[in-house]
Amino acid sequence: MMESLTLPPLRIATGVIRLPGSKSISNRMLLLAALARGRTEIRELLDSDDTQVMLAALARVGVGVTAIGHKAWAVEGCGGAFPARDADLFMGNAGTAIRPLTAALALSGGHYRLSGVPRMHERPIGDLVDGLRQIGADVRYTGNPGFPPLAIHPAAVKLDAPIRMRGDVSSQFLTALLMALPLTGRPAVIEMTTELISKPYIEITLNLMARFGVDVVREGWQRFNIPAGQAYRSPGVLHVEGDASAASYFLAAGAIGGGPVRVEGVGRGSIQGDVRFADELEKLGATITWGDTWIEARAPASSRLKAFDLDLNHIPDAAMTLAVAALFADGPCRLRNIASWRVKETDRITAMATELRKLGALVEEGDDHIAVSPAPTLTAGAAIDTYDDHRMAMCFSLAALGGVPVTINDPACVNKTFPDYFDAFAEIAAPVIAIDGPSASGKGTVAERVAAALGYHYLDSGSLYRLTALAGLRAGKALDDEAGLAVVAASLPARFSAGRIYLNEDDVTDAIRTEEISVGASKVAALPAVRAALLSRQRAYRRFPGLVADGRDMASVVFPGAVAKVFLTASAAARAERRYKQLIAKGMPANMHALLQDLQERDARDAQRSVAPLRQCDDADLVDTTELDIEAAVSAVMAIAKRQGLRN
Ligand code: DC
Repeated sequence: MMESLTLPPLRIATGVIRLPGSKSISNRMLLLAALARGRTEIRELLDSDDTQVMLAALARVGVGVTAIGHKAWAVEGCGGAFPARDADLFMGNAGTAIRPLTAALALSGGHYRLSGVPRMHERPIGDLVDGLRQIGADVRYTGNPGFPPLAIHPAAVKLDAPIRMRGDVSSQFLTALLMALPLTGRPAVIEMTTELISKPYIEITLNLMARFGVDVVREGWQRFNIPAGQAYRSPGVLHVEGDASAASYFLAAGAIGGGPVRVEGVGRGSIQGDVRFADELEKLGATITWGDTWIEARAPASSRLKAFDLDLNHIPDAAMTLAVAALFADGPCRLRNIASWRVKETDRITAMATELRKLGALVEEGDDHIAVSPAPTLTAGAAIDTYDDHRMAMCFSLAALGGVPVTINDPACVNKTFPDYFDAFAEIAAPVIAIDGPSASGKGTVAERVAAALGYHYLDSGSLYRLTALAGLRAGKALDDEAGLAVVAASLPARFSAGRIYLNEDDVTDAIRTEEISVGASKVAALPAVRAALLSRQRAYRRFPGLVADGRDMASVVFPGAVAKVFLTASAAARAERRYKQLIAKGMPANMHALLQDLQERDARDAQRSVAPLRQCDDADLVDTTELDIEAAVSAVMAIAKRQGLRN
């Protein structure tokens, strides 16, 4: 496992991210589906450590959980009583799993033991156990009172008086009790004895319970009534929204690094309170745009974010992102009413203060607040400890946008909720050099050498169109069969390895360079559906430390936010002559006149097609190589990269 990940200095963040499923919704839906009558299909379920913990626990108590496709699961509801009456359950560090399961197991009449990682045994659960004991449940501490591990035994439940419960440590205790009480089939009342924190999470709970047929009558945030005669019923098929807490990193990146950055999977209609993070970001001067299923953020016109002093009780998780955003503010910032940070994956107030200081900020830590005075420039080369806390790792990746290298220790802790986080972050933040130009302009050779000099990844996008043409022809498709070729493009079994290109196991490095395939590639490249099918595949090449991509529409369509854009060209005669020399050198027959005509025809087709025609972007630098050799062309591109702050 990688012990640390060093992010390169970054400045710009732009792009689109499809969010993974929400952790809060995924784990609630899994439990409700398990408790319901009937089979539930859950689509877009988050695939992460915390959901694996819940899935494994449900399987151990006899619930049928089956993977039925990519991120899709079927849950056979047990209608209230878990089939296995005795089980040991390991809950890792998943608060969203142990709390609700404890309550459900306590009311389901079996013998169960729940434990977790050492940190889980330091995270409080006493308020929930107190609530359960009031109604007669038999829940015992087998370690320290007030904390897991726990032992649960069958007990007669009585519901004659309201359950009185604290709500100021974690809202998950109330969530747990609310979700479990309908198992009794009797009316129940919960009364809060303190202020309730993180209220939007309770709204998620109530919303999902309602989808499973149980309505809760809420009196303010003090009293919750569960009327009699309700039981969970499967709603059939459910979709998990994108994770709004995870969205915060990308939106903040857009606000810090220019933007626009768009997250897909949450939007105006989201049931997650953490989408309100976007409103807080707006108060810092960012421009936020809302769609039904997406949110987009851009930096303020004044470039730096505005200093802030905010009560963030309603978005405790996403609030961590603001603490790191404070490094980019124009003055001292204060985050208030966040005491719950102390009982999360780690003591987040202390962890945050310690790590922000490594980046040069002055930080004052209080019981329930943190104040951050940013330095004018960030300290370069900080090594950030992450305390086995996924959010620490994700938040601090943003610091690299200050133009300094940042090392994240134990980056794999993001597996808790977002295993692909750093790949996703690279897709909006890794620097891209886009090199576009006509056939035989030398851009492939130049791009490859520039990539090698900078230690960057390299994308030869033309090879994807060539592969599509070859695979299409081999599959018997006509080169104007747009729908058929789009399917081929979307599922190309292509592999790039040690300078060779494979289609399945077949080495096609030379086969895609024939004249027939060159002409074929130019034809399939004119089909809009083929171009669309190759888009996300090309964007996935954007990795740290950076990418050099060559093609026709790298700067205009695929990577419009590229830091450096180059239009590399040469006169048609010079290009034809280069190709002629290449062919002769390989001992192949060549005709100068035919080559020139061929090139001009392809140029015309690439430049005249309706989608993504070959052209020089307004913000691209022109490099004319007619009179340049390869070395001189590479130097010209390196000079442009250097001017944009990219260096080897
Ligand atoms: O760069 P190349 O010669 O290998 O490209 C092969 C064909 O694919 C060429 O006719 C243009 C097309 N192409 C494209 O339309 N867009 C790209 N980004 C790359 C190539």
